[in-house]
Amino acid sequence: MEWPFFALRIVSGKVLLRGVTDGDLDPLVAALPGDLELDPHLERFAPLPEVRDRERRLVAGLWRHRGLWSPSSWCLDLVVEHAGRVVGIQSLEGDDFPTLRTVDSASWLEPGMRGRGLGTAMRAGIMALAFGHLGADAAVSSAEHSNAASLAVSRRLGYVDNGVGRVHGAQGAVDLQYLRLSRESWRASGFTAEVTGVERCLPWFGLGPEVGPEVG
Ligand SMILES: CC(C)(COP(=O)(O)OP(=O)(O)OC[C@H]1O[C@@H](n2cnc3c(N)ncnc32)[C@H](O)[C@@H]1OP(=O)(O)O)[C@@H](O)C(=O)NCCC(=O)NCCS
Repeated sequence: MEWPFFALRIVSGKVLLRGVTDGDLDPLVAALPGDLELDPHLERFAPLPEVRDRERRLVAGLWRHRGLWSPSSWCLDLVVEHAGRVVGIQSLEGDDFPTLRTVDSASWLEPGMRGRGLGTAMRAGIMALAFGHLGADAAVSSAEHSNAASLAVSRRLGYVDNGVGRVHGAQGAVDLQYLRLSRESWRASGFTAEVTGVERCLPWFGLGPEVGPEVG
């Protein structure tokens, strides 16, 4: 049995995105930022110290996404490498993708690596996969109004505001800014990335070989 995303490679600016391996788990745990809100659906193991339980939940989330992968609902986690070192995660999610052709994304970087353009390069890389190789029509994103970096990355790539919603957060209700990037706006952004190893991944998205690639 082969996990086809181990061979997927996306080179975008100063970052390399590739499928997370178990060998990446220790460096990812070491890079895990204290300010990152983890999947609230993952149960807290009360007897574990909070820091150990956050590390456990990070790894559990990655294994969960691999174990529960389905063409009708998937989350692709790619490790972010910069200068040969693991510095974060870039994820892409889709539900009923062959019909809806819409993706969502999430990402994080270790704090010392932020604010130098890597976040923009990561998002551009994953969007190059979504629009250029999977045939996405749109990408959505959401962030709290206080998350200036995430909102700036989205707007830099051409996302436009798409309403505000209220959801459950770790400390209660939070308002989220929703954003949307159309295929046309992605093309107009001018961002490109080098994507290899997609062909064997296509059936995992419910897609046949007739999809992509197109430039970018
Ligand atoms: C979101 C995140 C991945 C962005 O990565 P990054 O490397 O910091 O982003 P970049 O350096 O590419 O910056 C992109 C834009 O954000 C702006 N920006 C970055 N940090 C900012 C801040 N604290 N305040 C205001 N603007 C900021 C930059 O000026 C840049 O804008 P520009 O393109 O108009 O010049 C990173 O900040 C992070 O890991 N945050 C914590 C996790 C998180 O919130 N993830 C998103 C929710 S899933």
